[in-house]
Amino acid sequence: MDRYVIAPDAEVLVGRNLGLRLPERSSRERVVVLTQPGEPHRVAEAFVGEMSGLEVMVIELPDRELAKELAVVGDTYDRLADFNLGRHDTVVGVGGGALTDVAGFVAATWLRGVESVLIPTTLLGAVDASIGGKAGINRRGKNLVGAFWHPSRVIVDLDTLDRIPEALKLEGAAEIIKAGLIRDPAIVQAYATHGLGAPLDEVVPRAVAVKAGIVAEDFREAGDRALLNLGHTLGHAIEILAPMPHGFAVSVGMVAAGLVSSARFGFDAAWLTDLLFTVGLPVAASGISGTAALELVQRDKKRTAEGIRMVLLRSIGDPVIETVSLDEVGAGLAAIGAA
Ligand SMILES: NC(=O)c1ccc[n+]([C@@H]2O[C@H](COP(=O)([O-])OP(=O)(O)OC[C@H]3O[C@@H](n4cnc5c(N)ncnc54)[C@H](O)[C@@H]3O)[C@@H](O)[C@H]2O)c1
Repeated sequence: MDRYVIAPDAEVLVGRNLGLRLPERSSRERVVVLTQPGEPHRVAEAFVGEMSGLEVMVIELPDRELAKELAVVGDTYDRLADFNLGRHDTVVGVGGGALTDVAGFVAATWLRGVESVLIPTTLLGAVDASIGGKAGINRRGKNLVGAFWHPSRVIVDLDTLDRIPEALKLEGAAEIIKAGLIRDPAIVQAYATHGLGAPLDEVVPRAVAVKAGIVAEDFREAGDRALLNLGHTLGHAIEILAPMPHGFAVSVGMVAAGLVSSARFGFDAAWLTDLLFTVGLPVAASGISGTAALELVQRDKKRTAEGIRMVLLRSIGDPVIETVSLDEVGAGLAAIGAA
């Protein structure tokens, strides 16, 4: 088992046969487990079966973004009140990124903050969403309501991740490769050698280490945490316009960022595009409107008077945040097929 410490009371465990290891605390009496329908609920029940001596309530929230609604959070508060979930009790979230986002938000706000433990069941959740303490729900836009609230423990169970469907594995691969591109070239090499079959036992702990390390240094995104946005500046626009799943849009966004990096620093963008393509990730969003994408990017918070703040690569493992002109962004968009 690997252990990554983010803050004195916040850690990530990665390994096999981990089970539900709640942090040691004698005052805990009750545990509420929030989960999603389907496989995450089955995983949650297996974990609950291991708990003894505690009162446990399992609540299944709606799937995907439907869980991140204020009305769902309101109903959940009512259930916690009926259950008497107290200040020394624990909220456990078992599911993908949407579920861990809302579980974190419920824990951050119930009684002004109770302990949370997150068990991500998607690869994207394991290497990205569950780590870093950003909890949130959607209102008039994604993640517009939220809080910084570290889970005291994140349990990344590789046995659960082995079983996820191919599409979820691909989406997660985009975020894992992103972690490699900004801080750990060995991850990129593992995908170059094995494609999507890159061993999870190697790449997941490495990607967790990248995210945990960056968050530990910059909890509130005042500095280096923004490096995690590689591929996301254009990726968000592509996700909406294509539309395509988040991880796929990040892959296309990284291709565009690679091309801008190539023009500025001579970065080998063709190699990166080939790698993503070989892994099975999309490398273009043909037919989306370049003008609409530019408009969305400019509306985003990454805009400054001189241009767009974007994460670029001088080389693999050597990222830099630069202000990029609209012409350069346009060239990146043209290269991924935006018309
Ligand atoms: N807080 C953060 O820092 C952060 C970072 C990145 C993304 N996010 C959030 O994460 C969410 C996306 O996460 P996601 O991609 O995990 O999507 P998701 O949570 O919507 O899950 C996608 C689908 O996979 C299913 N699923 C979950 N685990 C499974 C398993 N083991 N086997 C089979 N199916 C399974 C879910 O039921 C769902 O239908 C978004 O809401 C995004 O805003 C948050």
